Amino acid sequence: MRVLLIGSGGREHALAWKIAASPLLTKLYAAPGNPGIGQEAELVTLDIADHAMVARFCAEKKIDLVVVGPEGPLVAGIADDLRAAGIRVFGPSKAAARLEGSKGFTKDLCAKYDIPTAAYGRFGDLASARAYVEKMGAPIVIKADGLAAGKGVTVAMTLAEALAALDACFDGSFGQAGAEVVVEEFLTGEEASFFCLCDGATALPFGTAQDHKRVGDGDIGPNTGGMGAYSPAPVMTPEMIDRTMREIIEPTMRGMAERGAPFSGVLFAGLMISGEGPKLIEYNTRFGDPECQVLMMRLKDDLLVLLNASADGQLAHTSARWRDEAALTVVMAARGYPGTPEKGSVIRGLEEAAGDGVEIFHAGTAINSGALVANGGRVLDVTAVGGTVGEAQRRAYAALDRIDWPQGFCRRDIGWQAVAREQAR
Ligand code: AMP
Ligand code: GLY
Repeated sequence: MRVLLIGSGGREHALAWKIAASPLLTKLYAAPGNPGIGQEAELVTLDIADHAMVARFCAEKKIDLVVVGPEGPLVAGIADDLRAAGIRVFGPSKAAARLEGSKGFTKDLCAKYDIPTAAYGRFGDLASARAYVEKMGAPIVIKADGLAAGKGVTVAMTLAEALAALDACFDGSFGQAGAEVVVEEFLTGEEASFFCLCDGATALPFGTAQDHKRVGDGDIGPNTGGMGAYSPAPVMTPEMIDRTMREIIEPTMRGMAERGAPFSGVLFAGLMISGEGPKLIEYNTRFGDPECQVLMMRLKDDLLVLLNASADGQLAHTSARWRDEAALTVVMAARGYPGTPEKGSVIRGLEEAAGDGVEIFHAGTAINSGALVANGGRVLDVTAVGGTVGEAQRRAYAALDRIDWPQGFCRRDIGWQAVAREQAR
C-alpha cells in the first residue's frame, strides 16, 4: 500500500513509526513531516489547505490511503474533498469533524441524546453570557466555541476570572473561534482520554490514556497541548469502558448518523470520571498528542489494517490487541512554552538515549546546517514501555536524562497518579 500521512508533530511521528512497521506498506509519504518522520517516510511539501493540490499529488503517486493527523485539515473538509476525488481517507468528514470544531454543536448533541456532560449555556453576545455567569457563580468554565489551538478554555475559580475570560472571547482574542461562547458547569473527578476507531456505524474501543495538560509539576501553571501521557488509564476499568461506550460513544455514533454525518476516523473522548460515572468534557476527532505516542507503543496489531477497516466501513469484523505493558511519554519542550518558545537550539544525543523499549518521537524539530534543532513548543516525546507505569516512567526519564539539550525542559512527575496507585497496592 502507498500511504500519505498529513501532519508534523509527535503524534504523526508515532503514526509513521507504526505504519512503517506494517507488512502492507510499500511506500510512505508525509506532508510536511519532520526530521523524525523523515526516518520512516519520504517528506513532501504540499499546501495542505489546497485540497485539489493534495488530490493531484495522490493521483500522481497512486496513494491508496491518506491518514490525516491534525484537526485543522479535517475541520476544513480535506476528507470530503479527497473522497470526492476518489481517494480513500482515514478521518472524518467536515460535518462529522464538528464534534471537535464546534463545542456548541457537541453540547447540543449531548442534550438531545442524553449524553452525560456538564450543564451549559451557549451565547453569541457578551451581555447574556455575563448574566448567565453571574447567575451560576464560580467555579465555572468558559470556552470559545471554535478551534483555538487548545487555548480557548478557561477554568475560572473566581467570578472575576470568568468575566475576564468572557471579555477576552468577545474582544476577539480567539478570532472567529470566540465569536460564540459555551459556559459550562465545573466538573470534578479524574480525567481520562478514551479513544475509539469508527467507520460511520461501528465504534471499536481503541485504548485509554491520561494526559498532563498543565505546564508545571503538580499540575500547576498554564494549560498546554499536553506535557506527557501514559496508557492504560487505571481509572478506565472494563466496567467504566462499557459505560462510556453505552452512555457516551454509542449515542454519539447514532446521533451523527441520524444527522447525516456518520462519524469515521478516530473519536477521542476527553472524560471526567466522577462518582456518578463518566461525563464527556469534549470530543476531538483525531488522535491525542501525546496520547497517540503511548497508544502506538502498546498496539500489537497492524495499524494499517485497522485504518483500512475504518476507511472501508469494516470495523465490525476487527479487534485491537494491546501489549500488557504500560507505556509512558514525557514531552521535552523548548524554554518559553506554552508562551513563545525559543527556537533554534541544538539537540544532541538522541541515538544514545533511545533503544531498549524507548522511542524518541520528534514533535517540533528541524535540521539546520546539518544539526538537529528545536523548532516548536513541544519538541521531543521520550516514550518508554514497562511492566508497570512506574517502570515505564523510570525508563523514560533515564533516556531523557541522556539527551543533551540544555534549552529544553520537562515535567518530572508524568504518571504520578498511576504511580501513586501502584505504590498503594
Ligand atoms: P478542553 O480543551 O475542553 O479539553 O479543556 C481543557 C481542560 O480544561 C480539560 O482537560 C479540563 O482539565 C478542563 N475542563 C474543561 N471543561 C471542564 C469542565 N466543565 N469542568 C472542569 N474542568 C474542565
Ligand atoms: N493531548 C490532548 C490533545 O491532543 O488534545
